[in-house]
Amino acid sequence: PLTDADKNHVRSIWSKASGKAEELGAQALARMLEAFPNTKTYFSHYSDLSVKSGQVHVHGKKIIDALTDAVNHIDDITGAMSALSTKHAHTLRVDPANFKTLSHTILVVLAIYFPADFTPEVHLAIDKFLAEVSYALAEKYR
Ligand code: HEM
Repeated sequence: PLTDADKNHVRSIWSKASGKAEELGAQALARMLEAFPNTKTYFSHYSDLSVKSGQVHVHGKKIIDALTDAVNHIDDITGAMSALSTKHAHTLRVDPANFKTLSHTILVVLAIYFPADFTPEVHLAIDKFLAEVSYALAEKYR
C-alpha cells in the first residue's frame, strides 16, 4: 500500500501534471499505441493514432483527469475508479493486462516532462499509485 510519503510524492508531481493533462495524456496514449502496437485494436475507430491526433488529445486529457480524480481520492482509489472499471470491463472489454502498459508509458512521460522531480522515491511512489489504479480498474472484471 501507499505510505504517507508515497502519497505526498504522488500529490507533489501531480500538482504539476494535472495542469498539463491534455499534453501529457496525448503523449502517454500515443506512446502506448506506437510502442505496444497490439493496443491499437481498441482504437480502430480513431482516424489518426499519432500524437498530433485531435482524438488522441481529447482522450489523453480524459485519462489524466481520471488519474487526478484518483489522486484526489487517494485513500479510496477503488471507489473513485468503480464506474470506469465497469466501463472498461463490460462495455469496452479492454484486456486488463493493458493497464500495466499504459501505466508504463504514463511513468515514462512523467519522467520526460519532470526530470528534476523524478527522483527514485518519486518513481517508486508513482509506480505504486499506478499499480493501485490498475488494480482498481480491474475490479469489475470478476
Ligand atoms: C475510455 C481512463 C486504460 C481503452 C476511457 C475513459 C476514461 C479512461 C476516463 C472515458 C470513459 C467515458 O467516456 O465514460 C483510463 C485510465 C486507464 C485506462 C485511467 C489506465 C490508467 C485503458 C487501456 C485501454 C483503454 C489500457 C486499451 C489499451 C479505452 C477505450 C476507451 C476508453 C477504447 C473509449 C475511447 C473512445 O471511444 O474515445 N478510459 N483508461 N483504456 N479507454 Fe481507458
